[in-house]
Amino acid sequence: MKHHQVIIVGGGLAGLRAALEAVDELDVAVLSQVHPVRSHSIAAQGGINAALANVSDEDSWERHAFDTIKGSDYLADQPAAEILAREAIDRVYESEHWGCPYSRLENGKIAQRPFGGGGFPRTCYASDRTGHALLHTMYERSVLKKVKVYEERMVIELVVEDGTCHGVVALNLVTGELEAYLADAVIFTTGGAGRIYSKSTNAIINTGSGMAVAYRAGVPLKDMEFIQFHPTSLYGTNILMTEGARGEGGYLINSEGERFMEKYAPSAMELAPRDIVARAIQTEIKEGRGFEGEYVHLDLRHLGAEKIMERLPGIREIALDFAGIDPITAPIPIQPAQHYTMGGIDCDVDGVTVVKGFFTAGECACVSAHGANRLGGNSILETIVYGKRAGEAALKYVKGRESGPSRRAVEEALERCTELVEGLRTADGSEDPAAIREEMTKVMFDKVGIFRDAENLKAAIETLVELKERYRNLRLSYRGKRYNLDLARAWELGGMLEVAEVIARGALLREESRGSHARTDFTERDDENWLKHTLAYRTDDGPRFDFKEVIITKYQPQARRY
Ligand code: FUM
Repeated sequence: MKHHQVIIVGGGLAGLRAALEAVDELDVAVLSQVHPVRSHSIAAQGGINAALANVSDEDSWERHAFDTIKGSDYLADQPAAEILAREAIDRVYESEHWGCPYSRLENGKIAQRPFGGGGFPRTCYASDRTGHALLHTMYERSVLKKVKVYEERMVIELVVEDGTCHGVVALNLVTGELEAYLADAVIFTTGGAGRIYSKSTNAIINTGSGMAVAYRAGVPLKDMEFIQFHPTSLYGTNILMTEGARGEGGYLINSEGERFMEKYAPSAMELAPRDIVARAIQTEIKEGRGFEGEYVHLDLRHLGAEKIMERLPGIREIALDFAGIDPITAPIPIQPAQHYTMGGIDCDVDGVTVVKGFFTAGECACVSAHGANRLGGNSILETIVYGKRAGEAALKYVKGRESGPSRRAVEEALERCTELVEGLRTADGSEDPAAIREEMTKVMFDKVGIFRDAENLKAAIETLVELKERYRNLRLSYRGKRYNLDLARAWELGGMLEVAEVIARGALLREESRGSHARTDFTERDDENWLKHTLAYRTDDGPRFDFKEVIITKYQPQARRY
């Protein structure tokens, strides 16, 4: 059995940054479903927030923290948002020193552009491929530091005994064999759950798999009802069209030729936070001012060819390749799509969870710095700020641990998982997992989407319960072992259904509108009853909910105006 002092599950930005924190002193390994540079962090486009004050010297980390808290609709734990904003500056300079090729101002400083909900041009960028630049920087450094990587491993169990984590069991996607990994500490950095929705900007690996594994191991999921819909995904494929396009001055235009954001956010216009812009677009479409009843236009033409080629070359390339549209001469058809999971595995500001030796960071975690609505540019920031902190916490934990992990506990888990996975591979039922998945993603988008109400949420929950029942009667179309992606997708579907149920039930429970959670039957924010986090604990009959106070330090909740 393999043994590493720290095992990190997920090879994206949060995972690699965590690994880099511990690797000088401990034996660290990363398990990932894909090669690290194929992780979803690669898809981040517009940038990373840090109050470097390179464009406006009035900016400060305190302003960044305040914008984040206001953007969160006051559900963020304020110490978490403050850490995010304060440590942003060091993390961005550190990544620059490690070689990240940020775009530059004339004076040579890191360039910064405006993003939604930020008071100043605060978003540092590498044209419109920031995630790409940053992930390659982290990966190169992890190679230099000799971080061990196991690719094509899908972790299916977190081994917990007596409240302590002892390792993980993973499915080797190449051989189809189950593998046990003993670990003194485990960090989950597995990304979000976007693919639970039919329209999503996320990579296909973003299925909430880590969230499901932690949930099944007894760790609560926090605030899962808060799902972010990015306002501008390319109509037809839902590929991200970065907020940076609006940061550079792009307009949103309806079928009547209006810059309609004037009605919804007269000061911030296209640079209001995402929840507001996504609802505005959806409203325009619903009220008949969309094109073909499906999309509105993102118009960049007035920016001119030179600016588009320099600042938004990736957007132009995607629009050309996937829609046959050149944004220099024609507007881009866009519609909102699921983009980010604000909720996740409940943890504190060091990534510490209720299970000893089990830590988490990045999108799969809920610290919570983003509360009910994340600001654009704060996501890859969270990965490196909180990835570092989780790595640091795991390092301290391992150094202080008195006894090693239990080999017996991990062996027993391996046996249990082998039986379950083999059972699934050879199952003799009649249900096609792909059909169940399609129904789930559709019902989540249609009924647990941008606007919600009790009737639709109840209908969605009913469907999810039925789908969970049908899931017990699967038959895979391919039963081989090597590279059996049918098996991997079918396994993760079980977790997706559970996570989807948590989202839908949490959304029904929360009888208010806050941030990304917009109830048409409870249209106001209700601080008296709902200024609190939800915690979902797994039971065999679905989630049991509890609550946790929001930590407020400096900023009392106010009405959000933009
Ligand atoms: O629009 C974007 O470039 C996305 C950024 C983010 O989600 O932070």
